[in-house]
Amino acid sequence: MRVLSGIQPSGKLHIGNFFGAMRQHLALQAQHESFYFIADYHALTSNPNPADVPGNVLDVAMDYIALGLDTDKTVFWCQSDVPEVTELTWLLSCITPMGLLQRCTSYKEKVAQGLSANHGLFAYPVLQAADILIFNSNLVPVGADQKQHIEVTRDIAGYFNNTFGETFVFPDEHIIESVAVVPGIDGRKMSKSYGNAIEIFEPQSSLKKKVMKIVTDSTPVDEPKDPQKCNVFALLKLVASPDELAQWEKRYRDGGMGYGEAKKRLAELLIEYFEPYRQKRAELANNKDYVKEVLAKGAQRARAIASQTLAKARKAIGLNYRES
Ligand code: ADP
Ligand code: TRP
Repeated sequence: MRVLSGIQPSGKLHIGNFFGAMRQHLALQAQHESFYFIADYHALTSNPNPADVPGNVLDVAMDYIALGLDTDKTVFWCQSDVPEVTELTWLLSCITPMGLLQRCTSYKEKVAQGLSANHGLFAYPVLQAADILIFNSNLVPVGADQKQHIEVTRDIAGYFNNTFGETFVFPDEHIIESVAVVPGIDGRKMSKSYGNAIEIFEPQSSLKKKVMKIVTDSTPVDEPKDPQKCNVFALLKLVASPDELAQWEKRYRDGGMGYGEAKKRLAELLIEYFEPYRQKRAELANNKDYVKEVLAKGAQRARAIASQTLAKARKAIGLNYRES
């Protein structure tokens, strides 16, 4: 079983990314052949400042490696180091009906949020389909927000195979639903673009400050509180042991507990949770050549597979006059 997933480099990763996606990616490495990449071509659709792009790519790479990515076993690369994927995107584009892309909600949502309505943003799902199909991926672990993109991939693979003969493997969707949306410090979904994120490797002092700022309601200390409606409790769920969580739940419901106390403990637990990886993250930041080497080796392994699938697709679609 081949597992593949991508993550866009748009800065340092946050705990929503970790509990919502990375943790599952890292766990899947043990049982499956895993392929993970940094989706920098996709990130261009939001028009980043060119000066920020290289640092963003390396930040994601360092975060993944520090948190336990197995660089020998797992194939880990930067998307734009495997340009075959852009050629396959074009081949797929030519059999992708406009209507299929017009139905995609993420384009409309991103434009509504203020991203420019460029062609790359519109064609984003075709590039994602190429990512998945070029590596013959079986399982694509993604958050619920990506479900439609996997369905589009299956549709595109179907059109291509039906028109030009069996070429691509159909991926199964594998939606990560074990973790609800992780709230940010303002209570909305934690996101790099909302400025409400706590980074995985946030320096301790700013982590504490951010945790103390998490939005709560104004229930007085003495009164009972509903843990299920509390952003602090939602984060405690991710890092507290089941026993400790049960105690906090009781204390919320009993009353007599202030949110400040829960926040203090949350900050401690978050620091403890990621502490074992901090040292490694700092070492990597001082050895970027090593990180670049890991990505270069990953790209080499990825290209070997991508070029084979691309050759098959080129032939199926008729781009093989030399053989005629
Ligand atoms: P962001 O919104 O910060 O730009 P991305 O859209 O790049 O994050 O998400 C990368 C991965 O992390 C996706 O698989 C997504 O489902 C997951 N993810 C992002 N934010 C959260 C969150 N707040 N809660 C749970 N999962 C999240
Ligand atoms: N669109 C995905 C996201 O924003 C990232 C991504 C790009 C991806 N290509 C992929 C995920 C291929 C899975 C498979 O989270």
